[in-house]
Amino acid sequence: MGEINFFPDDLEIKDQKIILRLDLNVPIKDKIIKDDTRITLCLPFINKLIQKKAKIIIISHLGRPKGINIPELSLIPVYKYLKDALKTNVYFFRGTFNDETKEKFSHLKGGEIILIENIRFFKEENEDDHIFSKKLGELGNIYINDAFSCSHRKQASVHNITKFVKKCYAGPLLKKEITAINLVIKNKKKPVTCIIGGSKISTKINVITNLLKKVDNLIIVGAMANNFFVYKNFNVGKSLIEKNTKEIIEDIYKVAEINNCGILIPEDCKVGIDFDGSGKNKNLTEVEDNEIILDIGFKSIKNIQKKINESNTVLWNGPAGYFENENFSKGTMSIAESISKNTLEKSLISVLGGGDTLAAVNKSNNKLTFSHLSTAGGAFLEYLEGKDLPGISVLK
Ligand code: 3PG
Repeated sequence: MGEINFFPDDLEIKDQKIILRLDLNVPIKDKIIKDDTRITLCLPFINKLIQKKAKIIIISHLGRPKGINIPELSLIPVYKYLKDALKTNVYFFRGTFNDETKEKFSHLKGGEIILIENIRFFKEENEDDHIFSKKLGELGNIYINDAFSCSHRKQASVHNITKFVKKCYAGPLLKKEITAINLVIKNKKKPVTCIIGGSKISTKINVITNLLKKVDNLIIVGAMANNFFVYKNFNVGKSLIEKNTKEIIEDIYKVAEINNCGILIPEDCKVGIDFDGSGKNKNLTEVEDNEIILDIGFKSIKNIQKKINESNTVLWNGPAGYFENENFSKGTMSIAESISKNTLEKSLISVLGGGDTLAAVNKSNNKLTFSHLSTAGGAFLEYLEGKDLPGISVLK
């Protein structure tokens, strides 16, 4: 496979129609953006394109609407944010893609922007549909993917669209991400510990299985750990669990044993009656039917900190609990602070990834230091695993 085609700084782009695929998938609640990291990281490049008078058509997804127009997943709050942050005309487009659309888009002036509504409102996006990709591709004459975090998705606006635009490039953020992760892969020092949170074990099973072959310790936190508790016959009350994970977990333990990788799951937890309430520290044997596990407990925090202290490389994706409520943020914050302390004082190589992990870390009152903070979650893990990501392969 060839080299990635990075966007050349000296390319003449005045009045060129650039389709810019970004990841503006930020946490939004009641139309308010809760963490703008992903947007702020995109701004310098957008400003550069504005200065160079390119006509900019931005595509992004928000959440996983699966082809349905869900008002809560509209990009309007992001549009308003961009309008305030950028000194140019920013337009919002919602509609279908046809000749009329092309006509509308042709009025865009150099240095102006159109933000397209959540591209996942179209089911064809998820299906990497050919006709849809062609329609998207025909909107511009240059395509730039600056969304490393969705480059593991074989979806129209990251994958098949490249078949229909002559010049396709990877943007500067994507370049920065893979350069940093490549450096970690090259320089990583043993013992390597990987901490994985989040909720869905079935979507991460392949990544986990492959990582078990490359790391010395795997720590499972967050709602994902609930499945391990069920596997070990603990009552998890009303906690979030996934169905039919017995075989998946059995497999994880098997592969871990063959590869000499230690698996650490929490030994206690913090429970609540609802997501907004206060929490109670409990042993796993004490969880009641009406309770929800929303964070890891004190003993687990200590165990994880010990593992971090013993490691020379730590990779972390996914919070340890429902950090949005301060009462359940202790686990996530303690992990973040421990990794940061070791990075500063003991030259720990540390890479954090994922929208939620970023949002959690940004909530800390302390200044935290990591070797690299990735905007990507799933893409980051798959890249670490050594996979060729579909959205990147097509840029080679
Ligand atoms: C992310 O949040 O990791 C990216 O935006 C990709 O989102 P997805 O997992 O819904 O494809």
